[in-house]
Amino acid sequence: MKLIIAIDGPAAAGKSTVAKRVAKQLNITYIDTGAMYRAFTLYVINQGINPENQAESEACIPDVHIELKPTGEIFLNDQDVSNEIREPHVSSQVSYIASYKAIRLALVELQRKMAEKHSVVMDGRDIGTFVLPQANVKIYQIASVETRAVRRYEENLEKGIQTSLESVEEELRKRDYIDSHREFAPLKPAPDSVLIDTSFMKVDEVVHRILEIVEKKRIVGV
Ligand code: DC
Repeated sequence: MKLIIAIDGPAAAGKSTVAKRVAKQLNITYIDTGAMYRAFTLYVINQGINPENQAESEACIPDVHIELKPTGEIFLNDQDVSNEIREPHVSSQVSYIASYKAIRLALVELQRKMAEKHSVVMDGRDIGTFVLPQANVKIYQIASVETRAVRRYEENLEKGIQTSLESVEEELRKRDYIDSHREFAPLKPAPDSVLIDTSFMKVDEVVHRILEIVEKKRIVGV
């Protein structure tokens, strides 16, 4: 049986760290959909287009080819952009790109194809509600904005990205607002999702909790 696990939630709630671990434990594929919106945003910026310009951004759709490698790297038109897409100039603009319906539909088509044949753990904002509503397990992972800001700030430091804690928190608040207020496929929990607040949980605990939920559904060992 094919297993589909959807992990949604606001920015920097630790979804990708947890999703990667869960995928590894279950020996299935991890798909980072946020990386796809980020790669698209990078393309738009590199073309000298303002990501707030919907028409010009959407006109890029035919020229953007995004590939997620099984080893985790993300390629944009055959170039490895895995590090560049995490930089602040992309993070601060990505929510505009992710609010455009035509771009979402193009990326959602890719995401659904990736989950067609294989068992996957997919993380994002609309996986349980729109991309894969048939998912066997749906997690909605949250944490307080203060906790998320500290986590993202520390991550940035490790990657050598210079930011202040205040600017990280400000950007997360702005992104959450745009992501949850957009018209098409906004960030919101699926009615059948399990809420996990990770504010005071270690990564191992969150992973354990999700594996328990999967086990309870008796779908382990697929
Ligand atoms: O998870 P992330 O921070 O890398 O996501 C980057 C942006 O992409 C985020 O602000 C919202 C958007 N996104 C989305 O709208 N839908 C998804 N399935 C994944 C990400």
